[in-house]
Amino acid sequence: MTWCALNGTLMRLEEAAISPMDRGFLFGDGVYEVLALVDGVLRARDLHAARLTQSLRGIQLDVSVDAIFDSMDALIERSGLSDAKLYIQVTRGAAPTREHVFPTTIEPTVFLTASPFTAGALTPSRAIVRPDIRWHRNSIKSVSLLGNVLLAEEARQHGAAEAILHRDGEVTEASTSNVFLLAAGVLRTPPLSDAILPGITRHLVLELAEAHGLAIDESPVMIDELTAAETVFVTSSTRGLLPIVAIEPGGVIGDGIPSPQFENLQNAYQALLHHQ
Ligand code: PDD
Repeated sequence: MTWCALNGTLMRLEEAAISPMDRGFLFGDGVYEVLALVDGVLRARDLHAARLTQSLRGIQLDVSVDAIFDSMDALIERSGLSDAKLYIQVTRGAAPTREHVFPTTIEPTVFLTASPFTAGALTPSRAIVRPDIRWHRNSIKSVSLLGNVLLAEEARQHGAAEAILHRDGEVTEASTSNVFLLAAGVLRTPPLSDAILPGITRHLVLELAEAHGLAIDESPVMIDELTAAETVFVTSSTRGLLPIVAIEPGGVIGDGIPSPQFENLQNAYQALLHHQ
């Protein structure tokens, strides 16, 4: 049975009901977070709380993030789960009429779920490379995900695990993750900007790399630099570090297997998850 919390009330998922006038449904007017619960511990809780605060500020929505996390704690306890995927969605709420401009007197809708989840074995995967067709404020974790949805589905239809995106040849991120490459002993990832989501896993990987004395370069990455790399990988809360061994168009990356340097980073990340 899946439990959820709707506006602070715990209930079974089947019992939850949201108005069709909710602006999340009508306009995609809301933001979200996806978090990993590992061995009963919420991974990088403070970083997720800070990002949610930023997303809410980005859409001018005033909601207590502390209250949301209190509600999440209650939900985790009720679910009885110790390994889970946690979802937070906050929308501007339901107004009596459909108007683009913000209504003045509505209550936001806060919806949380906890579903059983254990990170699966990370099989080295393929990715497609496509132009980034999304809007220009990707630093806001908006629920308006149509661009990401279409790109992720296109990857699936090509038998690929991800779609790596670029704007005029410059790598932004992937449809559901951030992009990294290892080349000549340097860990590279595109710089933070409005073009990408400031991934929590991205942040943790950079911290780990620094702690392990790995050189880091956060300057722009061009798409043709991916095929010249030893290892390319993508990061997210649900997939952790997923190695990409071939891209289309582009071909095989490095030797077609993740490098030892990647394996070290991967092991360090797993250790962090289980001893946080
Ligand atoms: N997605 N970039 C995009 C476009 C994403 O959708 C995600 C995560 C990331 C990685 O962020 P993080 O490391 O904080 O998970 C980067 C989540 C998992 C999702 O939408 O389900």
